[in-house]
Amino acid sequence: MNLKIIHWSIIGVVGFGLFVAVLVMLTGNLTLRAENDGLRVTEMFQGFQDGKCKSCHPAIWREWEGSMHAKAWVDEIYQAAARQVADRETKCDQCHAPQPILITGVGEMPKLRDKQREAGVSCLVCHLDAHGAMNGPPASAETYFHANVTNSIYTEPTTLCGTCHGQQSVPEHDQVSSFLNSKFADGSTSCATCHMPVVKRLQSTTSHESIKGRKHTWRGSRSVAQLKRAATLQLEYTDGKADVKLRSKTGHILPGGTLRTIVLEMTLFASDGTERQRQQISISAENENRLLPDENRTYAFDIASPTTGNTIKARLIYQLTPKTPESAWILMAEKTHIVP
Ligand code: HEC
Ligand code: HEC
Ligand code: HEC
Ligand code: HEC
Ligand code: HEC
Repeated sequence: MNLKIIHWSIIGVVGFGLFVAVLVMLTGNLTLRAENDGLRVTEMFQGFQDGKCKSCHPAIWREWEGSMHAKAWVDEIYQAAARQVADRETKCDQCHAPQPILITGVGEMPKLRDKQREAGVSCLVCHLDAHGAMNGPPASAETYFHANVTNSIYTEPTTLCGTCHGQQSVPEHDQVSSFLNSKFADGSTSCATCHMPVVKRLQSTTSHESIKGRKHTWRGSRSVAQLKRAATLQLEYTDGKADVKLRSKTGHILPGGTLRTIVLEMTLFASDGTERQRQQISISAENENRLLPDENRTYAFDIASPTTGNTIKARLIYQLTPKTPESAWILMAEKTHIVP
């Protein structure tokens, strides 16, 4: 036998052995790492439950706690609607109590969580990755409790928000499409510009310095201040006709939600204050007449035999749900004109 061949086959056998050994080590390592990752993810859920996030991030916790994200599951309006849906676990619940979206995929349809459902859209839903680390904007300090990963999707988080607020198959809850088709998407505006105002604060109790962050309040239609910013109203009167000009200042379709109605009301008062005439127009998803971002729209009203000294009043009012009584509607804007 040729010595060279024996020589090479020995090398071959040894090489193969080595290859197998390395493979075993590698896969062993990988399983070990996967196990560690799984443990760390579980530890973060436990930490959330035990109030650890709250104790190191008290300011952010307080902001989140008052937000609709914290209430996304316990929200009575949600629960009442979901109870009507036979297969709510596949059609509804996955966005109102989701698994962490960095794990299930940013932009992908979220998946229903099997624990801590009452925490709704919790810290972990937006920040926890599959290795058990916290992703966010650049941090100023390290912590022993969790790893910090800088991830650019937080700087302009529209894609992150779109995971729940922009699923093509759920048009009822889509604020993102109308935003992306508007002038608001051209510059550096994102969902965070209007819903997570900039704030300088200590990000945690162990941070070294106050750095720029964003408020975790997500004020929307329950905020009077937000509603007053949503649109402008102008009233022009000539010869028995009142033109009301609406302009949307909202970064997406207005009203943003399909349960909401904006009522444009025109009232005519006699000079002694008694009401002479009242007309209302409803703007809602149901009426298919919602305002697009930056849209200008004029409504013309005929004023019945106006006389000098009469007052014309135009009001824009917000109705949260069809069940909200008129006494609880919110005034967004108002203009008056006295007939000359
Ligand atoms: C793709 C994620 C997603 C799915 C699936 C989903 N929702 Fe929602 N839901 C949202 C988002 C985001 C909001 C807040 C924005 C809005 O109102 O459009 C919301 C808000 C709501 C509200 C308004 C709550 C309030 O306080 O006014 C109701 C009611 C609601 N959802 C019911 C449902 C029902 C019922 C289903 C199943 C048929 C469902 N949702 C499925 C994401 C989702
Ligand atoms: C022992 C204290 C401590 C605990 C407990 C803790 N954190 Fe943190 N966390 C920090 C510190 C320190 C930073 C860095 C803050 C800074 O930059 O000033 C941080 C940063 C973060 C960031 C930003 C990461 C980045 O890279 O931008 C997120 C998100 C976060 N924490 C979420 C959580 C959540 C969710 C929990 C609960 C599961 C939690 N933290 C528990 C101390 C803690
Ligand atoms: C709906 C998604 C969402 C939820 C829920 C959420 N965050 Fe954030 N978080 C963000 C975004 C987006 C940013 C980036 C803001 C910025 O540009 O500074 C951020 C930033 C942070 C930062 C960096 C400091 C800052 O203000 O930018 C920390 C720390 C943090 N989050 C912790 C938490 C904790 C703790 C909770 C739960 C109490 C939580 N987050 C819940 C989306 C979320
Ligand atoms: C994992 C899913 C999810 C993500 C990601 C998410 N949201 Fe939400 N958001 C919801 C749900 C569900 C609700 C409705 C809660 C309710 O009313 O029951 C909601 C409610 C809101 C509201 C309050 C609506 C109101 O009625 O006042 C605002 C504003 C909002 N989200 C903005 C954002 C922004 C901005 C981002 C990105 C930084 C974001 N959301 C990311 C699921 C999500
Ligand atoms: C230019 C400012 C602006 C931008 C940008 C903006 N919003 Fe809004 N958003 C508003 C105002 C004002 C309201 C209150 C009026 C309303 O309810 O539609 C609102 C309301 C909401 C609501 C509550 C809707 C409801 O019916 O309860 C949600 C959810 C929301 N925005 C999500 C988003 C998301 C997601 C983005 C990013 C695609 C975004 N917003 C971008 C100004 C903005």
